[in-house]
Amino acid sequence: MLVCSCNYITDKEIREVITELLDRDCWQLIVPAKVYHAMEKRGRCCGCFPNVVDIIIQTTEEYHARRHSTEAEIFDFMSRLKKFHEDNRRADIERRQKSHRAA
Ligand code: FES
Repeated sequence: MLVCSCNYITDKEIREVITELLDRDCWQLIVPAKVYHAMEKRGRCCGCFPNVVDIIIQTTEEYHARRHSTEAEIFDFMSRLKKFHEDNRRADIERRQKSHRAA
């Protein structure tokens, strides 16, 4: 399924890159910019980023489920990952509202 129409990136390609990143460091926090940087792409309109975040969370959960991480490790890490992305989403919305008001 096409996720990023600006760069023609599919969900399969995104999942593969996330898995490669997790293979290098399974506890790193992955953001869309890190995934796109690894693919040598850039967010243009960034409208796909919320979907990429969902794919990151889902792929990371599946990765750790396969990897025999303890329940406590997975819960702690996924909580931090979800909070990190929620904070980023909230900051994005606030930034857009501020720039909209200023215009
Ligand atoms: S849809 Fe991905 S950057 Fe525009």
